[in-house]
Order: sequence, then structure tokens, then C-alpha cells
Amino acid sequence: MIKIATVVGARPQFIKAAAVSRAISDKFADQVSEVLIHTGQHYDEKMSQVFFDELGIPMPKYNLEISGGLHGAMTGRMLEALEKVLLTEKPDWVLIYGDTNSTLAAALAAAKLHIRVAHVEAGLRSFNMRMPEEVNRIVADRLSLLLLCPTEEAVINLSKEGLTKGVHLVGDVMYDVSLHFADIASQRMDILEGHGVASKNYVLATCHRAENTDDPKNLAGIVYGLAGIAKARPVIFPIHPRTKAKIEEYGLLDALGGVSMIEPVSYLEMVVLEKNAEVIVTDSGGVQKEAFFYRVPCVTTREETEWVETVSAGWNILSGSDATRMIDAVEQHTRWMKLDVKPYGHGDAAERIIDILISSS
Ligand code: UD1
Ligand code: UDP
Repeated sequence: MIKIATVVGARPQFIKAAAVSRAISDKFADQVSEVLIHTGQHYDEKMSQVFFDELGIPMPKYNLEISGGLHGAMTGRMLEALEKVLLTEKPDWVLIYGDTNSTLAAALAAAKLHIRVAHVEAGLRSFNMRMPEEVNRIVADRLSLLLLCPTEEAVINLSKEGLTKGVHLVGDVMYDVSLHFADIASQRMDILEGHGVASKNYVLATCHRAENTDDPKNLAGIVYGLAGIAKARPVIFPIHPRTKAKIEEYGLLDALGGVSMIEPVSYLEMVVLEKNAEVIVTDSGGVQKEAFFYRVPCVTTREETEWVETVSAGWNILSGSDATRMIDAVEQHTRWMKLDVKPYGHGDAAERIIDILISSS
């Protein structure tokens, strides 16, 4: 029996961990035990608990209740608290996801205690070191013994940094989750009615990247872009708490008058809104990919993306935070050349991850 300590903290990590936790309980319960540790980075009911309820993720054994503050302070407090938990639990592996401060803290805490680290979503790069996520993922990859890559591009990125040992192409765990929920979501058209929209007749938008929310010029560009798009079709905007706070702080709330701003939604509700959107406008990594899974054209309000396959397949266009580029991209989407490719695996990434953990133990 191997013991895995899974560390999560932010919304996308709950969703990714759901795939692996389900694989453990469905297929590997006699070989693997899992302890779930929630750092507390995301804490609102709609940013955290809702995903545990809906995705059937086991309740975390620990919630460290660490959130907010500057990056160094948040990561430092997590590092200290995680070290204590790991000393108590003594897992064989620490399993980390993605590129948040929770990911970085867990990788550091485990590496310092000589506990093996396995990184899900290894090898992604934006090549923009001003992004906190780029710093987090580079360090996390360097400290991980198992580098579990979602794409071929990720494997190539790692090899360019000299990382070839312990590298496995497993596919994307978010794709696993999307397959599991796609049918359930198609039975929930009542969700669209609840928002007063019809299928393929609205744009879905999200925004939360620090480079967009913390720069008044970029956030204004996105707000005016969404307002411009909303002149021609409904725009539904489930808003991340940090973005809401910044929109209020910069006095941009009135400019969003035509946009339907709503609280963050549950995963199932999000899948329904994504699948039925005409176009998705986002700076989220997960949402860009989900747009592609559901073959919905995506406009990404960034100048680069880690998910380059979505762009090369013609389903995703980078608009930056410029309002005119955003509006033009949404208007032009029917002219994009879109390819039917499958770069994110076969929906069995979670099982492969557990197989590799078992065989590497
Ligand atoms: C974090 C990750 C980002 C990821 C995103 C997913 C880092 C550096 N960033 O960004 O990579 O894409 O999660 O959503 O780890 N807040 C609340 N309630 C919550 C959570 C956050 O009000 O439940 C507010 C707080 O004011 C907080 C701010 O949002 O200070 C930012 O939260 P934080 O977790 O630091 O960063 P995210 O923008 O959520
Ligand atoms: N998501 C959700 N409700 C929302 C917004 C996003 O369930 O209101 C889901 C979305 O479907 C995806 C994940 O959260 O699975 C993406 O997380 P987020 O955009 O916060 O972070 P990123 O992927 O950019 O790190």
C-alpha cells in the first residue's frame, strides 16, 4: 500500500484532483491510500466547498486556512504549515497540481523533507517570468521526481531545460473530468433558462489573471471589450472575487452595465455554460482548454498561452486585453480554420498517473 498526500488549494486544483481521487477509490483502493490537504488558498463557498460537494471529492483531512497576503507571505505560511502536516503523515509521495502558490509551497515542503514529489501538469510554460504561475511551475518541476505531462509540448519544454528523467506523457486530467461530466451537463439545459439565454446565442467570459486584474489599463481594456461584445449578444460573466474587487476599486463597474455579472458558478453549471456558448472569452488556463474540449471558439485575453495546441488547432485566438482586438475576434470566429485534433490524451490520465506512482514506488 502506498500513501499519497495530495495538496490542493485553488479552484482548478479541486477539479483536477477530483479525477485522480475518483480513480484511486474506483480502481486502486487496495493499493493506494490518499490524504487530502487543503491549504485554504481559495475559501469562499463558491470557490471551494461547492466543488467538493459536486465532484464527490473526499473531505480534506486538513484545511490549513491560509489565504491572501503577498505571494511570499502566503507561500511561506503554507510552507511552514505543510511541513508540520507532512512530518505527521509521512506519505510516500506528495502529489501536486498546476502552478499556484499552494503547488510551490507543497513542492518545497516535501523536497526539504526528502519526500518524493509528483507534479501533475508538469512542463507547461508561458515563457513569461512576470507571471507568478511561471515561477511556481518552474520550481515545482525542478523539485519533482515524477513529471506528469498533459501534452507533448510540455515534454519538449522539460527536455529543453534538461529534465528528461521521470517525465511521463499521461494526458490531461481536466479532459478526464470533462468526459465524465459532459453527458450529465447535457441533461441540464434548465441552467441556460435560469440565465435567460439560448444555446449558441451568448458569450461566456471569465477573468482573473493577475496581469489583467492588477493593471488598471488591462482590466479597463477587458471591461470595455466585454461591454462592446455585449452590444450584439448577451455576455455572461461569472466573476472571480479578486476581479470583482478590482473592478470596483478602479471604478469600472458602470462600464459593465450591459454584461450579466454573476457570482462564480459550480463546475456543472460552468460546463453547461461553456458547452452552449457561441464564443468563450477568458484568461483562464482551464477554461481555454474546456472551450476546446467542447469545440467552442475561444478568445484569450492574454498575449501568450501555455495551451498552444488550442491556438495551432484554430480554436483559440490571443487578443491580449485590447477591447478592439477582443471584439473583432468574437465577430470573426466563424471564419477561423478549426482542426479536429486530440492533443490532450484519451480521458485516462488519472489512471495512468496512479499506475506510474505505484510502479515508481
Ligand atoms: C490563484 C492562482 C492562479 C489560478 C487561480 C485559479 C496563484 C499565484 N494564483 O489566483 O494561478 O489561476 O488561483 O482561480 O496561486 N479571493 C476571495 N475568495 C476566495 C479566493 C480568493 O475573495 O475564495 C480573493 C482574495 O482577495 C485574494 C484574491 O482573491 O487575496 C486572490 O486570490 P489568490 O488565491 O491569491 O489568487 P487567484 O487570483 O485566485
Ligand atoms: N470554473 C467554475 N466556475 C466558475 C469559473 C470557472 O467551475 O465560475 C472552473 C472551470 O470550468 C475550470 C476551472 O474552474 O474547470 C478553471 O479555474 P480558474 O479559471 O479559476 O483557474 P485556471 O485554470 O486559470 O488556473
